Amino acid sequence: MDEQLKNTCNKLVPFIGKGHAQALWLAYITSETMQAKAEAQTFIELFWLRFAGPSVDNNTIYLPADDSFSHGSIPFGTVHYGNRPMGELRLQPEDINKHIGLFSITGGGKTNACKLMLSTLAHSCPFLVIDWKRSYRDLAYIAKANIRIVSIGQEGHQNLEWNPLQPPPGTGYQAWMYIVAELLEKSHLSGPGTADILIEVFDRLFTKNGWATPNQKIKRLPTFQQALFEVQSGQFTGRRMLWRDTCVRILRTFTLGASAKTFNTMAHASLEKLLGQPTILEIDYELPKPIRVFISELILRWVHLYRLRQGESKKLRHVLVFEEAHNMMPSQRNDTQMHSLETLLREIRGFGQGLVLISQHPSLLPTYVLGNTNTLVFLGLQHEDDIRAAAKALFLSKEDMHYLDKLKVGEALVKIKSRGGPYFVRFPEVA
Ligand SMILES: Nc1ncnc2c1ncn2[C@@H]1O[C@H](COP(=O)(O)OP(=O)(O)OP(=O)(O)O)[C@@H](O)[C@H]1O
Ligand SMILES: [Mg+2]
Repeated sequence: MDEQLKNTCNKLVPFIGKGHAQALWLAYITSETMQAKAEAQTFIELFWLRFAGPSVDNNTIYLPADDSFSHGSIPFGTVHYGNRPMGELRLQPEDINKHIGLFSITGGGKTNACKLMLSTLAHSCPFLVIDWKRSYRDLAYIAKANIRIVSIGQEGHQNLEWNPLQPPPGTGYQAWMYIVAELLEKSHLSGPGTADILIEVFDRLFTKNGWATPNQKIKRLPTFQQALFEVQSGQFTGRRMLWRDTCVRILRTFTLGASAKTFNTMAHASLEKLLGQPTILEIDYELPKPIRVFISELILRWVHLYRLRQGESKKLRHVLVFEEAHNMMPSQRNDTQMHSLETLLREIRGFGQGLVLISQHPSLLPTYVLGNTNTLVFLGLQHEDDIRAAAKALFLSKEDMHYLDKLKVGEALVKIKSRGGPYFVRFPEVA
Protein backbone atom coordinates (compact mmCIF):
# COMPACT_ATOMS: atom_id res chain seq x y z
CA MET A 1 0.00 0.00 0.00
CA ASP A 2 2.83 2.39 0.92
CA GLU A 3 4.47 1.98 -2.50
CA GLN A 4 1.17 2.60 -4.25
CA LEU A 5 0.50 5.80 -2.24
CA LYS A 6 4.03 7.02 -2.87
CA ASN A 7 3.46 6.44 -6.55
CA THR A 8 0.18 8.41 -6.38
CA CYS A 9 1.98 11.30 -4.63
CA ASN A 10 4.63 11.28 -7.36
CA LYS A 11 1.90 11.38 -9.98
CA LEU A 12 0.31 14.36 -8.27
CA VAL A 13 3.48 16.45 -8.80
CA PRO A 14 2.46 17.83 -12.24
CA PHE A 15 -0.93 18.87 -10.77
CA ILE A 16 -0.03 20.36 -7.36
CA GLY A 17 3.74 20.86 -7.49
CA LYS A 18 6.55 18.93 -5.86
CA GLY A 19 6.31 20.69 -2.47
CA HIS A 20 2.63 19.88 -1.93
CA ALA A 21 2.97 16.33 -3.17
CA GLN A 22 5.88 15.77 -0.80
CA ALA A 23 3.89 17.26 2.11
CA LEU A 24 1.06 14.79 1.47
CA TRP A 25 3.47 11.88 1.49
CA LEU A 26 5.23 13.11 4.65
CA ALA A 27 1.89 13.52 6.44
CA TYR A 28 1.14 9.89 5.64
CA ILE A 29 4.44 8.29 6.66
CA THR A 30 4.87 10.37 9.81
CA SER A 31 1.33 9.72 11.10
CA GLU A 32 1.58 8.31 14.59
CA THR A 33 -1.85 6.70 14.94
CA MET A 34 -3.77 4.35 12.71
CA GLN A 35 -6.56 6.90 12.41
CA ALA A 36 -4.19 9.70 11.36
CA LYS A 37 -2.63 7.40 8.79
CA ALA A 38 -6.04 6.48 7.37
CA GLU A 39 -6.95 10.18 7.16
CA ALA A 40 -3.68 11.03 5.36
CA GLN A 41 -4.36 8.19 2.95
CA THR A 42 -7.89 9.44 2.24
CA PHE A 43 -6.46 12.89 1.68
CA ILE A 44 -4.03 11.62 -0.97
CA GLU A 45 -6.78 9.66 -2.68
CA LEU A 46 -9.12 12.67 -2.68
CA PHE A 47 -6.44 14.84 -4.26
CA TRP A 48 -5.90 12.23 -6.90
CA LEU A 49 -9.62 12.02 -7.65
CA ARG A 50 -9.88 15.78 -7.83
CA PHE A 51 -7.08 16.24 -10.36
CA ALA A 52 -7.11 13.04 -12.32
CA GLY A 53 -10.92 13.11 -12.39
CA PRO A 54 -13.53 10.48 -11.63
CA SER A 55 -12.69 8.75 -14.90
CA VAL A 56 -9.36 7.73 -13.51
CA ASP A 57 -8.75 4.12 -14.28
CA ASN A 58 -5.95 1.88 -15.28
CA ASN A 59 -6.25 2.98 -18.89
CA THR A 60 -5.14 6.55 -18.36
CA ILE A 61 -1.41 7.09 -18.62
CA TYR A 62 0.25 9.29 -16.06
CA LEU A 63 3.97 9.66 -16.53
CA PRO A 64 5.42 12.81 -14.96
CA ALA A 65 7.59 14.87 -17.33
CA ASP A 66 9.91 17.80 -16.64
CA ASP A 67 10.22 20.35 -19.43
CA SER A 68 13.50 19.06 -20.93
CA PHE A 69 11.39 17.39 -23.62
CA SER A 70 10.75 20.72 -25.35
CA HIS A 71 14.40 21.60 -26.08
CA GLY A 72 14.98 20.82 -29.74
CA SER A 73 14.23 21.81 -33.31
CA ILE A 74 12.35 18.78 -34.62
CA PRO A 75 8.70 18.49 -33.44
CA PHE A 76 7.86 14.92 -32.52
CA GLY A 77 4.36 14.75 -31.05
CA THR A 78 2.86 16.18 -27.88
CA VAL A 79 3.73 15.06 -24.36
CA HIS A 80 0.62 14.30 -22.31
CA TYR A 81 -0.04 13.75 -18.66
CA GLY A 82 -3.23 11.73 -18.72
CA ASN A 83 -5.32 13.73 -21.14
CA ARG A 84 -3.63 17.00 -20.35
CA PRO A 85 -1.20 18.22 -23.08
CA MET A 86 2.08 19.33 -21.50
CA GLY A 87 3.83 20.69 -24.60
CA GLU A 88 5.54 19.66 -27.79
CA LEU A 89 8.24 17.01 -27.69
CA ARG A 90 11.18 18.20 -29.74
CA LEU A 91 14.13 16.16 -30.89
CA GLN A 92 17.60 17.54 -31.32
CA PRO A 93 19.70 16.52 -34.34
CA GLU A 94 22.14 14.93 -31.83
CA ASP A 95 19.35 12.61 -30.65
CA ILE A 96 18.99 11.33 -34.20
CA ASN A 97 22.76 11.09 -34.57
CA LYS A 98 22.73 8.59 -31.72
CA HIS A 99 19.96 6.51 -33.34
CA ILE A 100 16.23 6.17 -32.88
CA GLY A 101 14.18 2.99 -32.46
CA LEU A 102 10.45 2.89 -33.29
CA PHE A 103 8.54 -0.21 -32.24
CA SER A 104 4.93 -1.39 -32.27
CA ILE A 105 2.58 -4.05 -33.50
CA THR A 106 1.51 -3.68 -37.11
CA GLY A 107 -0.66 -0.59 -37.56
CA GLY A 108 0.57 0.97 -34.29
CA GLY A 109 1.75 4.14 -36.04
CA LYS A 110 5.52 3.66 -36.53
CA THR A 111 5.65 4.81 -40.15
CA ASN A 112 3.40 7.78 -39.35
CA ALA A 113 5.69 8.88 -36.49
CA CYS A 114 8.75 8.43 -38.69
CA LYS A 115 7.20 10.49 -41.48
CA LEU A 116 6.42 13.22 -38.95
CA MET A 117 10.11 13.43 -38.02
CA LEU A 118 11.36 13.21 -41.62
CA SER A 119 8.99 15.96 -42.76
CA THR A 120 11.00 18.46 -40.69
CA LEU A 121 14.34 16.85 -41.38
CA ALA A 122 13.75 17.00 -45.16
CA HIS A 123 14.44 20.75 -45.00
CA SER A 124 17.79 20.48 -43.28
CA CYS A 125 19.39 17.06 -43.60
CA PRO A 126 19.51 14.34 -46.29
CA PHE A 127 18.18 10.89 -45.51
CA LEU A 128 17.64 7.53 -47.16
CA VAL A 129 14.56 5.47 -46.29
CA ILE A 130 14.70 1.79 -47.20
CA ASP A 131 10.99 1.32 -47.81
CA TRP A 132 9.63 -2.23 -48.07
CA LYS A 133 5.96 -1.33 -48.44
CA ARG A 134 5.72 1.80 -50.61
CA SER A 135 4.50 3.65 -47.55
CA TYR A 136 6.61 6.81 -47.87
CA ARG A 137 5.38 7.97 -51.30
CA ASP A 138 3.36 10.82 -49.82
CA LEU A 139 6.30 12.18 -47.82
CA ALA A 140 7.20 14.86 -50.39
CA TYR A 141 3.62 16.15 -50.19
CA ILE A 142 3.56 16.02 -46.38
CA ALA A 143 6.96 17.68 -46.03
CA LYS A 144 6.46 20.10 -48.90
CA ALA A 145 10.01 19.29 -49.90
CA ASN A 146 11.84 17.78 -52.81
CA ILE A 147 12.18 14.09 -52.06
CA ARG A 148 13.48 11.65 -54.65
CA ILE A 149 11.99 8.18 -55.05
CA VAL A 150 14.06 5.40 -56.59
CA SER A 151 13.13 1.76 -56.74
CA ILE A 152 14.41 -1.75 -57.12
CA GLY A 153 12.30 -4.35 -58.84
CA GLN A 154 9.49 -2.14 -60.16
CA GLU A 155 8.97 -1.88 -63.88
CA GLY A 156 8.42 1.61 -65.14
CA HIS A 157 9.65 3.41 -62.05
CA GLN A 158 12.91 5.15 -61.57
CA ASN A 159 14.99 2.04 -61.26
CA LEU A 160 18.21 2.09 -59.32
CA GLU A 161 21.24 0.72 -61.12
CA TRP A 162 23.75 -0.49 -58.61
CA ASN A 163 26.18 -3.34 -58.80
CA PRO A 164 26.57 -4.61 -55.22
CA LEU A 165 30.22 -5.47 -55.97
CA GLN A 166 31.08 -1.78 -56.26
CA PRO A 167 32.72 -0.87 -52.92
CA PRO A 168 32.46 2.51 -51.21
CA PRO A 169 35.23 4.90 -52.26
CA GLY A 170 38.42 4.08 -50.40
CA THR A 171 37.50 0.44 -49.66
CA GLY A 172 39.35 -2.27 -51.56
CA TYR A 173 37.49 -4.50 -54.00
CA GLN A 174 38.73 -7.60 -52.24
CA ALA A 175 37.68 -6.50 -48.74
CA TRP A 176 34.26 -5.53 -50.09
CA MET A 177 33.87 -8.82 -51.96
CA TYR A 178 34.25 -10.69 -48.64
CA ILE A 179 31.52 -8.53 -47.07
CA VAL A 180 29.16 -9.14 -50.00
CA ALA A 181 29.72 -12.91 -49.81
CA GLU A 182 29.21 -12.94 -46.03
CA LEU A 183 25.96 -10.96 -46.28
CA LEU A 184 24.64 -13.14 -49.10
CA GLU A 185 25.23 -16.19 -46.98
CA LYS A 186 23.52 -14.60 -43.97
CA SER A 187 20.50 -13.07 -45.73
CA HIS A 188 19.78 -16.30 -47.59
CA LEU A 189 20.27 -18.35 -44.43
CA SER A 190 22.71 -20.72 -46.06
CA GLY A 191 25.63 -22.67 -44.61
CA PRO A 192 29.22 -21.43 -44.18
CA GLY A 193 30.50 -23.18 -47.32
CA THR A 194 28.40 -20.94 -49.57
CA ALA A 195 30.40 -17.80 -48.82
CA ASP A 196 33.62 -19.71 -49.63
CA ILE A 197 32.39 -20.62 -53.08
CA LEU A 198 31.07 -17.10 -53.72
CA ILE A 199 34.41 -15.59 -52.69
CA GLU A 200 36.26 -18.04 -54.95
CA VAL A 201 34.05 -17.17 -57.90
CA PHE A 202 34.13 -13.40 -57.36
CA ASP A 203 37.89 -13.62 -56.97
CA ARG A 204 38.21 -15.46 -60.27
CA LEU A 205 36.05 -12.90 -62.05
CA PHE A 206 37.95 -9.95 -60.62
CA THR A 207 41.23 -11.57 -61.63
CA LYS A 208 39.89 -12.04 -65.15
CA ASN A 209 38.71 -8.44 -65.36
CA GLY A 210 41.80 -7.01 -63.67
CA TRP A 211 41.94 -5.87 -60.04
CA ALA A 212 42.24 -2.20 -59.15
CA THR A 213 43.40 -0.38 -56.03
CA PRO A 214 40.71 1.16 -53.77
CA ASN A 215 40.91 4.56 -55.42
CA GLN A 216 41.06 3.30 -58.98
CA LYS A 217 38.08 2.24 -60.98
CA ILE A 218 38.09 -1.32 -62.18
CA LYS A 219 37.61 -1.50 -65.96
CA ARG A 220 34.76 -3.96 -66.00
CA LEU A 221 32.97 -4.79 -62.78
CA PRO A 222 31.96 -8.47 -62.52
CA THR A 223 28.21 -9.04 -62.20
CA PHE A 224 26.09 -11.57 -60.35
CA GLN A 225 25.02 -12.85 -63.77
CA GLN A 226 28.64 -13.68 -64.61
CA ALA A 227 29.09 -15.22 -61.16
CA LEU A 228 26.06 -17.45 -61.78
CA PHE A 229 27.52 -18.62 -65.08
CA GLU A 230 30.87 -19.28 -63.41
CA VAL A 231 29.31 -21.32 -60.59
CA GLN A 232 27.15 -23.30 -62.99
CA SER A 233 30.04 -24.19 -65.24
CA GLY A 234 32.52 -24.95 -62.43
CA GLN A 235 33.50 -28.41 -61.25
CA PHE A 236 32.64 -29.16 -57.64
CA THR A 237 32.90 -32.40 -55.72
CA GLY A 238 31.62 -33.78 -52.40
CA ARG A 239 29.98 -31.31 -50.03
CA ARG A 240 30.92 -28.45 -52.31
CA MET A 241 28.37 -29.74 -54.81
CA LEU A 242 25.62 -29.00 -52.27
CA TRP A 243 27.04 -25.56 -51.56
CA ARG A 244 27.26 -24.97 -55.28
CA ASP A 245 23.52 -25.63 -55.61
CA THR A 246 22.84 -23.13 -52.82
CA CYS A 247 25.05 -20.55 -54.58
CA VAL A 248 23.13 -21.06 -57.81
CA ARG A 249 19.86 -20.55 -55.93
CA ILE A 250 21.17 -17.34 -54.30
CA LEU A 251 22.63 -15.83 -57.47
CA ARG A 252 19.52 -16.65 -59.46
CA THR A 253 17.42 -14.41 -57.21
CA PHE A 254 19.52 -11.50 -58.47
CA THR A 255 19.42 -12.37 -62.13
CA LEU A 256 15.74 -13.00 -62.72
CA GLY A 257 12.84 -10.60 -63.09
CA ALA A 258 12.73 -6.89 -62.51
CA SER A 259 15.67 -6.73 -60.12
CA ALA A 260 18.11 -8.15 -62.71
CA LYS A 261 18.47 -4.73 -64.30
CA THR A 262 19.36 -3.14 -60.98
CA PHE A 263 22.11 -5.48 -59.90
CA ASN A 264 23.80 -6.60 -63.09
CA THR A 265 25.10 -3.33 -64.38
CA MET A 266 28.76 -3.07 -65.24
CA ALA A 267 28.61 0.68 -64.78
CA HIS A 268 30.15 2.26 -61.72
CA ALA A 269 26.92 3.78 -60.45
CA SER A 270 27.72 4.61 -56.85
CA LEU A 271 25.44 4.70 -53.86
CA GLU A 272 27.04 8.05 -53.08
CA LYS A 273 24.49 9.81 -55.26
CA LEU A 274 21.66 8.47 -53.09
CA LEU A 275 23.10 10.06 -49.98
CA GLY A 276 23.11 13.69 -51.03
CA GLN A 277 19.40 14.51 -50.76
CA PRO A 278 16.25 13.17 -49.07
CA THR A 279 15.60 9.88 -50.86
CA ILE A 280 13.23 6.97 -50.60
CA LEU A 281 14.47 3.65 -51.92
CA GLU A 282 11.51 1.40 -52.57
CA ILE A 283 12.44 -2.26 -52.53
CA ASP A 284 9.44 -3.89 -54.05
CA TYR A 285 7.51 -6.34 -51.90
CA GLU A 286 7.39 -8.77 -54.78
CA LEU A 287 11.14 -9.29 -54.45
CA PRO A 288 12.09 -12.28 -52.30
CA LYS A 289 12.64 -11.33 -48.67
CA PRO A 290 16.31 -12.44 -48.65
CA ILE A 291 17.03 -9.87 -51.37
CA ARG A 292 15.36 -7.13 -49.35
CA VAL A 293 17.33 -8.09 -46.24
CA PHE A 294 20.56 -8.30 -48.25
CA ILE A 295 20.10 -4.84 -49.77
CA SER A 296 19.26 -3.26 -46.41
CA GLU A 297 22.32 -4.76 -44.75
CA LEU A 298 24.64 -4.05 -47.63
CA ILE A 299 23.62 -0.39 -47.67
CA LEU A 300 24.24 -0.17 -43.93
CA ARG A 301 27.72 -1.68 -44.30
CA TRP A 302 28.44 0.46 -47.36
CA VAL A 303 27.48 3.69 -45.58
CA HIS A 304 29.45 2.69 -42.48
CA LEU A 305 32.68 2.28 -44.45
CA TYR A 306 31.94 5.41 -46.45
CA ARG A 307 31.51 7.50 -43.28
CA LEU A 308 34.63 6.04 -41.67
CA ARG A 309 36.60 7.41 -44.57
CA GLN A 310 34.94 10.81 -44.32
CA GLY A 311 36.07 11.20 -40.72
CA GLU A 312 34.31 12.01 -37.46
CA SER A 313 31.60 14.61 -37.21
CA LYS A 314 29.47 15.84 -34.33
CA LYS A 315 27.05 17.33 -36.80
CA LEU A 316 24.29 15.13 -38.19
CA ARG A 317 25.26 14.42 -41.81
CA HIS A 318 22.66 11.95 -42.90
CA VAL A 319 19.97 9.61 -41.60
CA LEU A 320 19.32 6.03 -42.71
CA VAL A 321 15.85 4.64 -42.02
CA PHE A 322 15.35 0.88 -41.90
CA GLU A 323 11.86 -0.59 -41.81
CA GLU A 324 11.60 -4.21 -40.61
CA ALA A 325 14.95 -3.79 -38.88
CA HIS A 326 14.68 -7.05 -36.91
CA ASN A 327 15.40 -8.93 -40.14
CA MET A 328 18.87 -7.45 -40.19
CA MET A 329 19.79 -8.74 -36.75
CA PRO A 330 21.55 -12.06 -36.25
CA SER A 331 18.85 -14.65 -35.55
CA GLN A 332 20.92 -16.75 -33.27
CA ARG A 333 24.08 -16.12 -31.33
CA ASN A 334 26.65 -15.77 -33.99
CA ASP A 335 29.61 -14.04 -32.40
CA THR A 336 31.19 -12.59 -35.52
CA GLN A 337 27.93 -11.11 -36.77
CA MET A 338 26.97 -9.83 -33.30
CA HIS A 339 30.35 -8.26 -32.90
CA SER A 340 30.39 -6.55 -36.27
CA LEU A 341 26.87 -5.13 -35.97
CA GLU A 342 27.39 -3.96 -32.41
CA THR A 343 30.64 -2.26 -33.36
CA LEU A 344 28.96 -0.69 -36.35
CA LEU A 345 26.09 0.76 -34.26
CA ARG A 346 28.50 2.22 -31.74
CA GLU A 347 31.01 3.48 -34.28
CA ILE A 348 28.76 5.04 -36.86
CA ARG A 349 27.24 7.59 -34.48
CA GLY A 350 30.59 9.35 -34.15
CA PHE A 351 30.55 10.00 -37.89
CA GLY A 352 27.36 12.02 -38.12
CA GLN A 353 25.33 9.12 -39.46
CA GLY A 354 22.00 8.68 -37.67
CA LEU A 355 19.99 5.47 -37.88
CA VAL A 356 16.26 4.99 -37.46
CA LEU A 357 15.42 1.37 -36.75
CA ILE A 358 11.77 0.39 -37.14
CA SER A 359 10.48 -2.98 -36.05
CA GLN A 360 7.38 -4.80 -34.89
CA HIS A 361 9.30 -6.92 -32.44
CA PRO A 362 11.60 -5.20 -29.94
CA SER A 363 12.08 -8.55 -28.19
CA LEU A 364 13.73 -9.95 -31.33
CA LEU A 365 16.42 -7.30 -31.23
CA PRO A 366 19.65 -8.12 -29.41
CA THR A 367 20.12 -6.16 -26.17
CA TYR A 368 22.97 -4.15 -27.62
CA VAL A 369 20.64 -2.67 -30.26
CA LEU A 370 18.28 -1.16 -27.69
CA GLY A 371 21.32 -0.29 -25.57
CA ASN A 372 22.89 1.66 -28.43
CA THR A 373 19.70 3.47 -29.37
CA ASN A 374 19.45 6.90 -27.79
CA THR A 375 15.77 7.58 -28.44
CA LEU A 376 13.34 4.73 -27.86
CA VAL A 377 9.77 5.04 -29.07
CA PHE A 378 7.38 2.27 -28.06
CA LEU A 379 3.93 2.53 -29.61
CA GLY A 380 1.25 -0.10 -28.92
CA LEU A 381 2.61 -3.56 -28.22
CA GLN A 382 0.83 -6.81 -27.64
CA HIS A 383 3.10 -9.76 -27.09
CA GLU A 384 4.29 -10.28 -23.53
CA ASP A 385 7.93 -10.69 -24.64
CA ASP A 386 7.80 -7.36 -26.49
CA ILE A 387 6.17 -5.61 -23.53
CA ARG A 388 8.82 -6.96 -21.16
CA ALA A 389 11.66 -5.90 -23.49
CA ALA A 390 10.13 -2.42 -23.78
CA ALA A 391 9.53 -2.01 -20.03
CA LYS A 392 13.14 -2.97 -19.36
CA ALA A 393 14.53 -0.56 -21.93
CA LEU A 394 12.33 2.27 -20.60
CA PHE A 395 13.12 1.51 -16.93
CA LEU A 396 9.36 1.46 -16.29
CA SER A 397 8.29 0.61 -12.76
CA LYS A 398 6.26 -2.56 -12.20
CA GLU A 399 3.12 -0.45 -11.57
CA ASP A 400 3.53 1.45 -14.84
CA MET A 401 4.39 -1.51 -17.04
CA HIS A 402 0.76 -2.12 -18.01
CA TYR A 403 0.73 1.28 -19.79
CA LEU A 404 2.52 -0.39 -22.70
CA ASP A 405 -0.54 -2.54 -23.19
CA LYS A 406 -2.90 0.44 -23.13
CA LEU A 407 -1.38 2.55 -25.89
CA LYS A 408 -3.76 3.33 -28.73
CA VAL A 409 -2.75 3.94 -32.38
CA GLY A 410 -0.43 6.96 -32.53
CA GLU A 411 0.35 6.92 -28.78
CA ALA A 412 3.78 6.04 -27.46
CA LEU A 413 6.10 5.97 -24.50
CA VAL A 414 9.29 7.77 -25.47
CA LYS A 415 12.61 7.86 -23.66
CA ILE A 416 15.53 9.98 -24.76
CA LYS A 417 18.75 8.99 -23.07
CA SER A 418 20.42 11.80 -21.11
CA ARG A 419 17.37 14.02 -21.66
CA GLY A 420 14.48 12.31 -19.92
CA GLY A 421 11.38 10.19 -20.07
CA PRO A 422 9.64 7.91 -20.42
CA TYR A 423 7.13 10.47 -21.68
CA PHE A 424 3.64 9.67 -22.79
CA VAL A 425 3.41 11.10 -26.32
CA ARG A 426 0.61 11.44 -28.83
CA PHE A 427 1.62 11.84 -32.46
CA PRO A 428 -0.58 13.72 -34.93
CA GLU A 429 -1.62 11.79 -38.01
CA VAL A 430 0.41 13.23 -40.88
CA ALA A 431 -1.48 11.95 -43.89
N1 LIG B 1 -1.05 9.35 -34.79
C1 LIG B 1 -2.05 8.78 -35.44
N2 LIG B 1 -3.33 9.21 -35.27
C2 LIG B 1 -4.35 8.62 -35.90
N3 LIG B 1 -4.22 7.60 -36.75
C3 LIG B 1 -3.00 7.12 -36.97
C4 LIG B 1 -1.85 7.68 -36.33
N4 LIG B 1 -0.76 7.00 -36.73
C5 LIG B 1 -1.20 6.07 -37.59
N5 LIG B 1 -2.53 6.14 -37.73
C6 LIG B 1 -3.38 5.28 -38.57
O1 LIG B 1 -2.96 3.94 -38.46
C7 LIG B 1 -2.58 3.44 -39.73
C8 LIG B 1 -1.30 2.62 -39.58
O2 LIG B 1 -0.27 3.50 -39.26
P1 LIG B 1 1.23 3.19 -39.69
O3 LIG B 1 1.29 2.80 -41.11
O4 LIG B 1 2.07 4.33 -39.25
O5 LIG B 1 1.50 1.89 -38.79
P2 LIG B 1 2.80 0.99 -38.72
O6 LIG B 1 3.12 0.79 -37.29
O7 LIG B 1 3.86 1.57 -39.58
O8 LIG B 1 2.28 -0.40 -39.33
P3 LIG B 1 3.13 -1.54 -40.07
O9 LIG B 1 3.93 -2.25 -39.01
O10 LIG B 1 2.09 -2.42 -40.65
O11 LIG B 1 4.00 -0.88 -41.09
C9 LIG B 1 -2.42 4.65 -40.64
O12 LIG B 1 -2.79 4.38 -41.94
C10 LIG B 1 -3.29 5.68 -40.02
O13 LIG B 1 -4.57 5.58 -40.58
MG1 LIG C 1 4.83 0.89 -41.30
